[in-house]
Amino acid sequence: MASTLAHLVNHQVRLAARPSGLPVAGDWQFTEEPVAEPAEGGVLVKTLALSLDPAMRGWMNEGKSYIAPVGIGEVMRAGGVGVVVASKAPGFAAGDHVSGTLGVQEYCLVPAEQLRRSGLAKIDLRLGTVTQWLNVLGMPGMTGYFGLMDVGQPKAGETVVISGAAGAVGQTVGQIAKLRGCRVVGIAGGQAKCDWVVQELGFDACIDYKGGSVKDGLKQHCPNGIDIYFDNVGGEILDTVLTRINRKARIIICGAISQYNNTTPVQGPKNYLSLLVNRARMEGIVVFDYADRYHLAIAEMAGHLQAGRMKSKEDVVTGGVAAFPGTLGKLFTGENFGKLVLQVAEA
Ligand SMILES: NC(=O)c1ccc[n+]([C@@H]2O[C@H](COP(=O)([O-])OP(=O)(O)OC[C@H]3O[C@@H](n4cnc5c(N)ncnc54)[C@H](OP(=O)(O)O)[C@@H]3O)[C@@H](O)[C@H]2O)c1
Repeated sequence: MASTLAHLVNHQVRLAARPSGLPVAGDWQFTEEPVAEPAEGGVLVKTLALSLDPAMRGWMNEGKSYIAPVGIGEVMRAGGVGVVVASKAPGFAAGDHVSGTLGVQEYCLVPAEQLRRSGLAKIDLRLGTVTQWLNVLGMPGMTGYFGLMDVGQPKAGETVVISGAAGAVGQTVGQIAKLRGCRVVGIAGGQAKCDWVVQELGFDACIDYKGGSVKDGLKQHCPNGIDIYFDNVGGEILDTVLTRINRKARIIICGAISQYNNTTPVQGPKNYLSLLVNRARMEGIVVFDYADRYHLAIAEMAGHLQAGRMKSKEDVVTGGVAAFPGTLGKLFTGENFGKLVLQVAEA
């Protein structure tokens, strides 16, 4: 076996420095290593595609969070889908498709003691494509599903507003809310994204925050106020939504991408007293807390995909791991249209 792997080279992207503001080229280091055989209990995975996530920006910072920062010199953390090349672990065999924390590299050697932490799990490509397993059937889909269902607790007839509506998390939230009988209003950057969520995903309306006033859009499209706000962006948009919430509204704090590259302190909500007036609540969500229930959401959403009740859109960039630094920035300018995926090898 060793002889069949010996000729393979693993190209990697490592964190070289902690960025200030938007990451720059100097924050990354490109390395290569020979590919090694897994030891007893371990698995070697060839990366097919990587998930590029806004959270990556947070993982590059020093400091306490829901997960340890990526260390300087370490391979950049990334979720991905791959194929098992060699396995000495029960439950995995060469040729299996898997998802897990593979890192920004072409091959991931997962030792026995890291198998659980890396979340390595077999995936069934009959339920969805490789890229859908990084989107609606993957981490962003799980975030949208459990954030909406567990924290939001939507009821038919309620009005749900979603920022980052055309993104990975947003597209799942909006479609699940529609399937639960809610009125769904998105907020997204640009007419093309707004048209897509309305025409293709069936949202009731979408407000282009780059082309007009969010306040006016909410007045027009949420005549009965807002019962649930799924917040992906924070900042000014969160503050504006707070002025239109209903009594007992639920605000899901999923992310605050407008704040991730700040070099000044995070802008907190000025209008938070609206929570008091409206007996409303604001609650954060971390997707990993729902890992033991992922299979339930996957089964439901795979069923919706297959029956044509749900759609998914992925923005797939080619160029392999070398294209990672240049591609990550798209998330923060809104250049991605759909779940941002980096293709590393042909499936
Ligand atoms: N809590 C969790 O467990 C968890 C898990 C996954 C993701 N998240 C969070 O969920 C959010 C969405 O993630 P995603 O993977 O679905 O990303 P995404 O929406 O697919 O991509 C990011 C989008 O954010 C928007 N954006 C960028 N800068 C913005 C700004 N200054 N103001 C408003 N919008 C801005 C852009 O869309 P426009 O073109 O529409 O501006 C961009 O396309 C992020 O905040 C992420 O951190 C949280």
